[in-house]
Amino acid sequence: MKRIGLLTSGGDCQALNAAMRGVVKGLSENVEDLEVYGFHNGYKGLIYGDYRLLTSRDFSGILTKGGTILGSSRQPFKLMRVPDENGLDKVEAMKQTYHKLNLNCLVILGGNGTQKTANLLREEGLNIIHLPKTIDNDIFGTDVTFGFQSAINIATDAIDCIHTTAASHNRVFIVEVMGHKVGWLTLYAGIAGGADIILLPEIPYDIKKVVNAINKRSKAGKGFTILAVAEGAISKEDAQLSKKEYKNKVANRKYPSVSYEIADQIAKESGVEVRVTVPGHTQRGGSPCPYDRVLCTRLGAAAAKAIMEEDYGYMIAMVNGDTKRVPLAEVAGKLKTVEPDCQTIKEAKRIGISFGD
Ligand code: F6P
Repeated sequence: MKRIGLLTSGGDCQALNAAMRGVVKGLSENVEDLEVYGFHNGYKGLIYGDYRLLTSRDFSGILTKGGTILGSSRQPFKLMRVPDENGLDKVEAMKQTYHKLNLNCLVILGGNGTQKTANLLREEGLNIIHLPKTIDNDIFGTDVTFGFQSAINIATDAIDCIHTTAASHNRVFIVEVMGHKVGWLTLYAGIAGGADIILLPEIPYDIKKVVNAINKRSKAGKGFTILAVAEGAISKEDAQLSKKEYKNKVANRKYPSVSYEIADQIAKESGVEVRVTVPGHTQRGGSPCPYDRVLCTRLGAAAAKAIMEEDYGYMIAMVNGDTKRVPLAEVAGKLKTVEPDCQTIKEAKRIGISFGD
């Protein structure tokens, strides 16, 4: 007999259902008596005892379905130790729900913040398995996170579509790509979409260099330029500010996001017409791509194996093509960023892509 809990927390992505299906199929194929409790809306469901008993039917036909059948919400890690508005101790409440249901293990699907809370629950004595979800690909200890490849496809499609209209109008276009504080998604979608300039948080840009790159293209007879700009892109000047000063600046800037500020600066410096496109949450939506379906099936099956072996306290990661149990204690709280000197960037620069540095 095994009783497991499942929850999906933080921003959703395309392959959450595929991953849960992998876990549950992997267990139900091998465990006689399996009870699966699904907690609604992430940690909220665990805190307030909002859950439902799931059957194998719930996991049929969801391999290709985006979003999450359990719902999700953001419950910031830094507030986990802060009582709720009614004075409820959230960590104690989560432990109580877990023990009340007599769970053998809790499988938690989520990104960095979710992983920190998963590790906290492990430290509190719960049996935890974490699966690395995020379109941002910024979880330390795994080569890739699920959602990332699906999001690359969508962001690349957006750049592809902009290409045809940019060429017709001889304009400069900025496509703003998600990724929170890291540039993985922008780097890959930018290269895949043939962007001429790619701006990442890890490589602060110099607006003069950006304008030079645009001018160089127009001198060479290229009528349009496409920039893939990470939502977290930062100028060299802003990178000098303290965290607090930068936060203040962002809170008070007149632009909805960094791309509009860059667009304004380019227009002022070079006189060209600039348009901004923000695909936004479409990057997290729709069906998971085949790569993510395979990834999640493998991670899910590997999680099921760890649960059957009662080996808990891990993120089930993908390392050099193999699934691997990575201790949560070693990775929780660490961010995986793009290395500015990595081969991918060197090779992109070799073919003339500017990173504004
Ligand atoms: O972490 C995934 C992500 O989509 C980031 O790329 C983005 O910065 C953030 O979530 C957006 O969050 P929300 O859905 O809360 O607006």
